[in-house]
Amino acid sequence: MFGEQECPKVSRRAREITPFIAMDVMETAQAMERNGESIIHLEVGEPDFDTPECIKEAAAKALRDGKTHYTDSRGLIELREAVAQHYGRQYGVTASPEQVLITSGTSPAMFMLFSALLEPRQEIIISDPHYACYPNFIQFVQGKPVRVQVYEEDGFQYRPEEIGKKIGAETKGIFINSPSNPTGTLLSAERMQALARFDPYIISDEIYHGLVYGEQEHSILEFTDRAFVLNGFSKLYAMTGWRLGYLIAPREFIRPLQKIHQNFFISANSISQWAGIAALNQAQADVARMRDLYNQRRILMIDRLKKMGFGLAVEPTGAFYVLANAKAFHQDSYRLAFDILKKAKIGVTPGIDFGSGAEGYLRFTYANSIERIEEGMERLKNYLEQERFKNIL
Ligand SMILES: Cc1ncc(COP(=O)(O)O)c(C=O)c1O
Repeated sequence: MFGEQECPKVSRRAREITPFIAMDVMETAQAMERNGESIIHLEVGEPDFDTPECIKEAAAKALRDGKTHYTDSRGLIELREAVAQHYGRQYGVTASPEQVLITSGTSPAMFMLFSALLEPRQEIIISDPHYACYPNFIQFVQGKPVRVQVYEEDGFQYRPEEIGKKIGAETKGIFINSPSNPTGTLLSAERMQALARFDPYIISDEIYHGLVYGEQEHSILEFTDRAFVLNGFSKLYAMTGWRLGYLIAPREFIRPLQKIHQNFFISANSISQWAGIAALNQAQADVARMRDLYNQRRILMIDRLKKMGFGLAVEPTGAFYVLANAKAFHQDSYRLAFDILKKAKIGVTPGIDFGSGAEGYLRFTYANSIERIEEGMERLKNYLEQERFKNIL
């Protein structure tokens, strides 16, 4: 009778969550693969690399040593210390292990953070475009995402003066994500400094830190202590399946966050936590190797996309994404992405997944091999030539 979206038995909160379209594209592509079709995956932001050996070895050792129990709900002290040292080494900031809380990925950390921060209807400023899931996390705990437009010619980074106009009595936080998903661009130190002067907390998703090509990324903790850092192991260490992340929070939030964690998650996975210590302390050479390869792929993809006529006002220099302006081909990114999947057999994510500010864009990820990217770009070129020729797009 009802689709799940309308069924009144399903809570409004659950019905109102929008799908993560990148996942919808991937799942459609996988169904096509099961029918024998060959698909090039450029849609989902997941490293194609296997987790480095030193990390796997640390996990195997933890298993052998019987480290298979719940840990402290805040996480292993050894890992919290390693995180604090990493921030000290990398950015010269002092974060105490007491301010670190280990979670099963950045996503649960986000859920906990907004649960601890927001009363109903309180507001968090986010950019448009933004990572697809941000508004859903905020709305799920009855908060309100307030979108601030960012522009292609600025590398999609905030203009602090536009944020100033949106700050009101209900504004609890300003969300930043540099290097950013979906844009692959970075927020400059000057703009971060300007944002740190505003009253609301800054919430900084630093999950793509370390994946930068030529530019220097900055932690928000270099500019203010009135901030929350979200970070995790999924991207830099190719550990998406291990489900490991963390939150660095002002001290007054730690006990409330700990209580939320105890109730809803108990603790993060113990084996993954031992692996995380090795990632932070031993995997530098592996990270450098993966970063070099990402950079080669980035250069190749940008070159090919530009030659095909996609718009790129500012070249992305971080994460592993290119948000390319596809308005010369079609305005409706959802239709375009699924048409590309159907006819050219390439998975790409429609810009609309990341907010109305990215409508008319497509997000490509270069977390795939050079050979696959080359094949994908060739298929895309042929597709665009054919479709333009037939004039049906
Ligand atoms: C910007 C951003 N934040 C958070 C996440 C979630 O990461 P995790 O695997 O740590 O939950 C992602 C995953 O794609 C992301 O792109």
